Amino acid sequence: MTTRLPSTGAPEPATAPATTCRSDEVVVIHRLFRRLFAEAPALVRDVAPGDVARAGHVAKHLHGIIALLHVHHRTEDDYFWDRMTERAPACGLHVALMRRQHGAVSDRLDLADEPATSWAGEADAATAERLAAELDEVDRLLVEHLADEERDAFPVLDAILSDAEWDDIHKHAKRHKPPLPIFVLLGLMMESIPQSERDAWFEKELPAPIRVAYRLAGRRQYERAIRRLRPQATPIAVAATA
Ligand SMILES: [Fe+2]
Repeated sequence: MTTRLPSTGAPEPATAPATTCRSDEVVVIHRLFRRLFAEAPALVRDVAPGDVARAGHVAKHLHGIIALLHVHHRTEDDYFWDRMTERAPACGLHVALMRRQHGAVSDRLDLADEPATSWAGEADAATAERLAAELDEVDRLLVEHLADEERDAFPVLDAILSDAEWDDIHKHAKRHKPPLPIFVLLGLMMESIPQSERDAWFEKELPAPIRVAYRLAGRRQYERAIRRLRPQATPIAVAATA
């Protein structure tokens, strides 16, 4: 694993805790969000007007990914920005930008959440287009924010947070019940990992009981969900070992 240098404003290496690139673990989650929100507008536009059953499946998925992104950003808000302000005061502008971008994404997510509920009941074309347009805007804001965060905040956080603090953040994140079925989320997660790395990630990152449960039942649950979500596509998150 490489050690990334801070872009600007972080403490000198001699005074910062010795740490590796733990933010790489968050970058994996960012890949998932990029993928989920990039495909979301097309999922809505692909539903034929009046197809209430399919609109219901897609709306449920949208509520799930919206809640997931809210939880992710709240965790970052709770653990990152105050510490960055305190330990790397020169990064104040970056912290202000991150807080502002999180606020903007959060507002847009709420604007998409509401029409998703009404669209699920009617599957009408006008609400579908309003919802898809809100999701386009979420995607635009998110792509910009994630790039800024990875470039301007993560190198600093790698320099100022200890391994124990990163472990604590992970423990906190795991305490939340995921807003999507766990194996569907796991499958979507694996989709976002390059195929050449997928098997290794599956073996390294997941505890043995989860791997066994995924092989026995979880993979089928994920594949069923994907067929409902993207009827034309083949589920791709299949670790060769699964
Ligand atoms: Fe963020």
